[in-house]
Amino acid sequence: MNKILDLITAQMKAAFAECGYEETYAKVTLSNRPDLCEYQCNGAMAAAKAFKKKPFDIASEVVAKLAGNKVFAAAEVVMPGFINLKLDSSYLAEYMNAMVNAEQSGCERAENPMTIVVDYGGANVAKPLHVGHLRSAIIGETIKRNGRLLGHKVIGDVHLGDWGLQMGLIIEELRDRKPDLSYFDESFEGEYPKEPVFTISELEEMYPAASAKAKEDEAFSKRAHEATLKLQNGYRPYRAIWQHIIAVSVVDLKKNYGNLKVSFDLWKGESHAEPYISGLIKELEDKGLAYESQGALVVDIAQEGDSKELPPCIVRKSDGAALYSTSDLGTIIEREKDIKPDWYIYITDKRQELHFVQVFRVAKKAGFVSEDKKMSHLTFGTMNGKDGKPFKTRDGGVMRLETLITDICQAAYEKIMESRNVSEEEARKTSEIVGLAALKYGDLSNQASKDYIFDMDRFVSFEGNTGPYILYTIVRIKSILGKYQSLENKFEGEARILPAISGSEKDLMLQLSRFNEIMETSFTELAPHKICQYVYELANVFNRFYHETKIISEENKERQASWICLISLTKNVLNECINVLGIEAPERM
Ligand code: ARG
Repeated sequence: MNKILDLITAQMKAAFAECGYEETYAKVTLSNRPDLCEYQCNGAMAAAKAFKKKPFDIASEVVAKLAGNKVFAAAEVVMPGFINLKLDSSYLAEYMNAMVNAEQSGCERAENPMTIVVDYGGANVAKPLHVGHLRSAIIGETIKRNGRLLGHKVIGDVHLGDWGLQMGLIIEELRDRKPDLSYFDESFEGEYPKEPVFTISELEEMYPAASAKAKEDEAFSKRAHEATLKLQNGYRPYRAIWQHIIAVSVVDLKKNYGNLKVSFDLWKGESHAEPYISGLIKELEDKGLAYESQGALVVDIAQEGDSKELPPCIVRKSDGAALYSTSDLGTIIEREKDIKPDWYIYITDKRQELHFVQVFRVAKKAGFVSEDKKMSHLTFGTMNGKDGKPFKTRDGGVMRLETLITDICQAAYEKIMESRNVSEEEARKTSEIVGLAALKYGDLSNQASKDYIFDMDRFVSFEGNTGPYILYTIVRIKSILGKYQSLENKFEGEARILPAISGSEKDLMLQLSRFNEIMETSFTELAPHKICQYVYELANVFNRFYHETKIISEENKERQASWICLISLTKNVLNECINVLGIEAPERM
């Protein structure tokens, strides 16, 4: 469906053109004075300068052309030359009916779908998922679903950290613990064990132990570095251990992401870039882009117009090891070969900002991707505790994702039990849906790049800008629809949405009519918080309408049926939105 704003703008363009002014002046925006009007056009001000006329006169000429226009109920000129617009209620009701009949409530799929890789999650193999990875998973999942709703081919890649120093640390830790394993016998030529030689709990315990040891024990740290390099160079026993580490880790990661209702199309990782590394280094050297600096191989990335001096991108360390940047470059080459994305979207915390500037610039300079390739790095801030410091457990440790989810579901359970609308057993089940919604919405409703405070009490509240409030609104609509179903006396004709007869009803329609636009804006701007803003306002206007309107006892059955259509459209739009946010609504709560 055409966006309501485009339809309005088209009317204004025609009116400006009829008066002899360029269409570009006919820009329409949402009103910033909703008490006075719904939309506004300030183009007469700009036209006045160009045409050396009074803005008021230009606006008046334009408005005169709108006489009898079916889209507007009112078009008014106010000093010095603003045009205030109100939509015609019949026109708006017809737009609602078209939404009812359209697929996805009128959110159209792109005519020319793009192929998009969303690189999110970014878990590191062998290290437990912690809240730092939570944001990437939640935000990325929404970006992916948003793109798909718009008809794009979106491929989500978890892009595991499976190639770094943590591998060498674990290998050396394993050697210290189980020196008799065949992997550590250099003369061993047989088959290595098929089954992993450790469990996930051992693995999760080994990494922090090794990492702490490396900080104190220089010799151990050196061994870990060497083991990492050997692994990267293909040393057979280490590759075998590494396969075990990945296998054990991935099972666990899939379970964790599953609990979060986050899923990936590709389970690739840094290691998949390995076959491309030596080739890309050679290419960078051949093209004269890479040069030696203090033993390392680097590529300059500074450009004219940079506000500060950007350091070169290191592509090979002095010990010959590849780095994070090199692996991201290799991955780009692989993706160009296998996927040919039109758009690359990476989602990590903002400390990686420089890293991606470097990677994107080197990739373009070297011609790994075309100069105009869309490459975005969506950064996010830190999730802080109530004290404003990075979120920790009570004893100061890093909070595990599993614990966090359990805690918030428990809080949601207690909230649900307060109102006692459902049995304890149902409350348990529902709290898993509501808790996850509280967590995700609490995150997504903040502009991604900002830090936010993880405030469990606020997140699980049924009031205010929270996930549970949105779910509660959907549940409320479901309950009215259920009651309506059981009424004996219903409208016999074909139910349609009739022009609004109250302010709150019209506000609800106006908010609904903006659905397709918001879905596009949130995606092009990679701004999921805009969906939350939209959903929150929609829930608010719906609740206002609901409190002012006696739907079930309404005697005019045609009017009643119209309201039922309207609220069921509201439910559908809310559901489309929360689905993009990776949230579901329960039947009751
Ligand atoms: N594993 C990384 C981390 O934990 C995130 C990976 C992001 N993706 C990428 N292609 N660099 O920080």
